[in-house]
Amino acid sequence: MTTHEAQPKTRVAVPDRASPPFPADFHWGAATAAYQVEGAAQEDGRGPSIWDTFSHTPGKVLGGDTGDVAVDQYHRYRDDVQLMAALGLTAYRFSISWPRVRPAGSGPSNERGLDFYRRLVDELLAAGIEPWPTLYHWDLPQAVEDAGGWPERETAYRFAEYAQLVHDALGDRVKSWTTLNEPWCSAFLGYGSGVHAPGRRDPDAAVRSAHHLLLAHGLAVEALRSRRPDTLRGISLNLYPVSPETDAEEDRDAVRRIDGLQNRLFLDPILLGRYPDDVLADLAQRVDLGHIKDGDLATIAAPVDMLGINYYRRYAVSGLPGPVTHSPECWPGSEHVRFVPHGLPSTVMDWEIDEFGLFEVLYGLHRDYPCPPLYVTENGAAFDDELTADGTVRDTQRIAYLDAHLRASHAAIRTGVPLRGYFAWSLLDNFEWAMGYAKRFGLVYVDFPTQRRIPKDSAWWYAGVIRRGGLP
Ligand code: FCB
Repeated sequence: MTTHEAQPKTRVAVPDRASPPFPADFHWGAATAAYQVEGAAQEDGRGPSIWDTFSHTPGKVLGGDTGDVAVDQYHRYRDDVQLMAALGLTAYRFSISWPRVRPAGSGPSNERGLDFYRRLVDELLAAGIEPWPTLYHWDLPQAVEDAGGWPERETAYRFAEYAQLVHDALGDRVKSWTTLNEPWCSAFLGYGSGVHAPGRRDPDAAVRSAHHLLLAHGLAVEALRSRRPDTLRGISLNLYPVSPETDAEEDRDAVRRIDGLQNRLFLDPILLGRYPDDVLADLAQRVDLGHIKDGDLATIAAPVDMLGINYYRRYAVSGLPGPVTHSPECWPGSEHVRFVPHGLPSTVMDWEIDEFGLFEVLYGLHRDYPCPPLYVTENGAAFDDELTADGTVRDTQRIAYLDAHLRASHAAIRTGVPLRGYFAWSLLDNFEWAMGYAKRFGLVYVDFPTQRRIPKDSAWWYAGVIRRGGLP
């Protein structure tokens, strides 16, 4: 996803004709993840996950927030499905909690945990909403972490077993399976910078984790295909266009490095069956790569039927000397690279808003890879939403954000990109990982003390887009 030319503020031109409708079978969804919404952390036999341990460790999550209760979807799923139906969603992306269905990570399954997902899936199907589960959205069973976690190869095999167990319970009703959400974050935020669970700061462990996550994905894809060939299998990656700050050779090299670690380290093995040579060479300067075994890449490249793209922002980078503000542990072998502002308005996450970047990612995938059908499985923004006295949330900035990114998505479709769906992040305000409940990404406002759900203006705007099948 590189913008190789040194033109930091120029963009790939997005055609700006008025949008004709999206394809009739386009998936219009919204997304959540188990630890961020379910709550019920100790109910019905659920085991602890690394996020329970991490969030209960003082100083790890803003405000000391935890996902113990979250937005209580475990108990409120029926109402939430009704809400989705009222908005006209045609698909719901949620994740399955590994410690809820296999509390110790291995060993016996927990039928009461599986029953929750059976009920949720049935409720969705009854409302005409396609269930779109992700098998792993970061909540590793604590017992698996205690046995070494993602830096250990065994974890990949435990994941494949868990994937089959869930498939056996839901495979008759679920048509699309996503293995992992954003393995980059699991590996490099979880084991590199430590800002996410399990909070380790060990670049070597992060690199090993990235490989074992990819292996876990490939093993699960193979296992699910052998069980039921007619369903879709894929993965959701967080992809970023990367631009140089200036034309300098050092900045272009910084682009190559960050694009390599962030995008190509995952895309190339999955879609091309090999790691990028330049990335391996950079990493080898810093870490031992002996954990990559013969045959692993063939497993990782098990054909996928779809690819999910989570898109939030562009990266502008420089390799010239200056203060490094990002956690260098996230970029083993490229610790000197600086992330620089691009001068665009930001959300309250401090992520610059750049819808052209979404177009570039989609277009680049189609151009550079044998590209399966694509789905935007996350895109959205946090703003300082306020519930007004008249009971509304006037989130005009979010509407503008979604409108711009949907226009970019449509522009990609017009250039021939096989984009089949869009899932807004998120359906509901929820537990935003290390930021706790401070950052609201929902289409629906949640009054956390009462758990009352109030659709924001953006929710009704999105409902209108879905009804019309396109943008105004
Ligand atoms: C993504 C995560 C998702 C959410 C958004 C804002 O990286 O997949 O759970 O936190 O960021």
